Amino acid sequence: MELLTDRFGRVHDYIRISVTDRCNLRCVYCMPEEGLKFLPHDEVLQKDEIIDFMKVMVQFGIKKVRITGGEPLLRTDIVEIIRGISAIPEIEDIAVTTNAMYLAKKAEALKEAGLTRINVSLDSLHEDRFREITRGGRLQKVIDGLKKAEEVGLFPIKLNVVLIKGQNDDEILDFLEFTKDKDINIRFIEYMPIGHAGNSWKKKYLSLETIFEKCKEQGLEYEPIDTVKGNGPSENYRLKGAKGSFGLIHPVSSHFCDNCNRLRLTADGYIKACLYWDEELNIRPYIQKDPEELIRLVKQSIDNKPENHEMALKLQDEATSHKPTWRRMSQIGG
Ligand code: 5AD
Ligand code: SF4
Repeated sequence: MELLTDRFGRVHDYIRISVTDRCNLRCVYCMPEEGLKFLPHDEVLQKDEIIDFMKVMVQFGIKKVRITGGEPLLRTDIVEIIRGISAIPEIEDIAVTTNAMYLAKKAEALKEAGLTRINVSLDSLHEDRFREITRGGRLQKVIDGLKKAEEVGLFPIKLNVVLIKGQNDDEILDFLEFTKDKDINIRFIEYMPIGHAGNSWKKKYLSLETIFEKCKEQGLEYEPIDTVKGNGPSENYRLKGAKGSFGLIHPVSSHFCDNCNRLRLTADGYIKACLYWDEELNIRPYIQKDPEELIRLVKQSIDNKPENHEMALKLQDEATSHKPTWRRMSQIGG
């Protein structure tokens, strides 16, 4: 089988598909308070286009899919999208990233449709702070959603915690504590400057070294592990004796790009080979009419994929070699 390999030898077997740019929340690191102009419905890929796209991609070695948004569970046909993708024999793993506001309601149907597992955004364990960070989210809904996901067996469950200086960095130990008696993987993520025109994100950015510092301060022992199922760039650790684990995703400060195996498809049908850079190619017109042209564009996009996103340069106000994307995180899907 011909694989999707880039100039740096990185094989792409994983795709993240954003199925909507809409969201019912406005997390501070993701969307502006006033929201964004959402795509009109007819500009968003339809269920059958997404499934047909995947049928082409599996012929080139794509085996793993993550469905993202915006908030993917806002799509009324999300269960059918999952069903259609999971029915493709080559697909080994299909996951969803969600804010969990509708998870309790939909977990069972999603599992039954073939969903393997979920990642849930959860940046605070305090009700009021959670509402502040998400600008309106309800923590109890996340808790109910996680319970339901556990009940129906959407394993492993991962929680995404974006570290925000001054807003949740005092909860690091509480999150670590959470892994002690729950078989859950908590992924601490560095605040990324995606679609942030100004420099205000830097005030909120904290390097993940903070996590190790906190562990040391408290005398918490941890060891590296490599048993967490997933496709991500996270390095994983376990506190001594804990059931669960924690992972660190350092998009800004570390070598996030070295093993990048991922492609992205935006809700309006653009292929993005790199989360950060500006280049994106519109493949929508070809999905059903010209699969050969579709794959030619996918390959072109991979051929142009940069070695590194250079976000670290941005932290130091240095010039980068490519232009960053205009899209906000909710318009890419993380
Ligand atoms: N920096 C880091 N992570 C982000 N996410 C969204 N915006 C950002 C950002 N600016 C992550 C959240 C969410 C996932 C979809 O993307 O953790 O769970
Ligand atoms: Fe919505 Fe997720 Fe962005 Fe929060 S991080 S605003 S839940 S898309």
